[in-house]
Amino acid sequence: MTQRKTLLRALAGETLPVPPIWMMRQAGRYLPEYRATRAKAGDFLSLCYNPELAAEVTLQPIRRYGFDAAILFADILLLPQALGADLWFVTGEGPRLSTITTQADFDKLGRGEMIHDTLSPVYETVRILRRELPEETTLIGFAGAPWTVATYMIAGRGTPDQGPAHALKAENRALFQAIIDRLTEATVDYLSAQIEAGAECVKLFDSWAGSLRGQDFTDFAETPARTIIAALKARHPGIPVIAFPREAGERYVGFARATGADCVALDNSVSPEWAAEHVQVDGCVQGNLASSHMVTGGQALVDETRRIVKAFSGGPHIFNLGHGITPDADPENVQIMIDTVRGG
Ligand code: CP3
Repeated sequence: MTQRKTLLRALAGETLPVPPIWMMRQAGRYLPEYRATRAKAGDFLSLCYNPELAAEVTLQPIRRYGFDAAILFADILLLPQALGADLWFVTGEGPRLSTITTQADFDKLGRGEMIHDTLSPVYETVRILRRELPEETTLIGFAGAPWTVATYMIAGRGTPDQGPAHALKAENRALFQAIIDRLTEATVDYLSAQIEAGAECVKLFDSWAGSLRGQDFTDFAETPARTIIAALKARHPGIPVIAFPREAGERYVGFARATGADCVALDNSVSPEWAAEHVQVDGCVQGNLASSHMVTGGQALVDETRRIVKAFSGGPHIFNLGHGITPDADPENVQIMIDTVRGG
């Protein structure tokens, strides 16, 4: 059957006259309708675990803007919670988790097969979305990559430099590796369940990959991604995978080959011209407009959007931001970006 969904065509390696477009955090606080639904749910985690409301916020940016893809509304930290970590969000500050720094902490964690009890509402959200999304819209499932999720589990919160995770890696390599391995295994189970529920593509978010250097990048960014992607493709032949090793810099080069990813998502610290030459040669790329343009708008937004479309026009490309849209973004600027991508 000929594939009609533009996002899946780009992921299959097709160069399209107009790139498909979606946005990281497209369901989020910059939208008044998101804030209203979140208030109805009570708090962020209650929203994640309420399939009707999570599906509703996923659909909001599709209705408003007609993006080519919808991303499941959930969070990368639901997986550690399903493995037994405590998780809560402090308003205005971010996530908090019970920390894992000793073997005894690790021994309390469950294994992959127990996650589905906690995560079944997420799979229900996926099922609702597959019924309700327009037929041309692709549904993306996702998980955090093991290293990024481990940085939150070890520190118990977000950190500017992932210091606690680097310290554990240096001081107790065996325990650190055990955490990575447990997350790798559980991520395969989690993403498989999303695919079985109807996700048509999955994305691995390695937001802190940029703080891994040299052999550490190979061992803790590339190797877990390769293991996860190989296992998913063995269970679900043909499932496309987008990998986002954020701020990988020169390590973006060859990342698709090293991991088997169908698409590499780029942050905006690399220029689109450089990435077209060195990364897009291996296949589809996604990105990479700075999300600050969604706040500042104006001619610079239009110029930079055109520059990115042009730089990547010689190969498969999915237009996106370089990171998530921020709460202070102007919803009008999102429309200007879309019109520029689609209308030139
Ligand atoms: O992109 C989407 O629209 C899909 C949903 C999604 C969320 N988080 C919703 C969310 C996705 C894909 C994520 C991924 C995620 N979560 C990452 C990786 C991507 C990245 O941004 O680097 C990370 C590191 C997290 C962990 C996380 N969740 C943090 C650090 C925070 C607090 C920071 C913040 O923006 O408030 C969250 C909360 C979160 N996840 C929000 C949303 C919409 C804001 C929560 C709210 O409504 O108050």
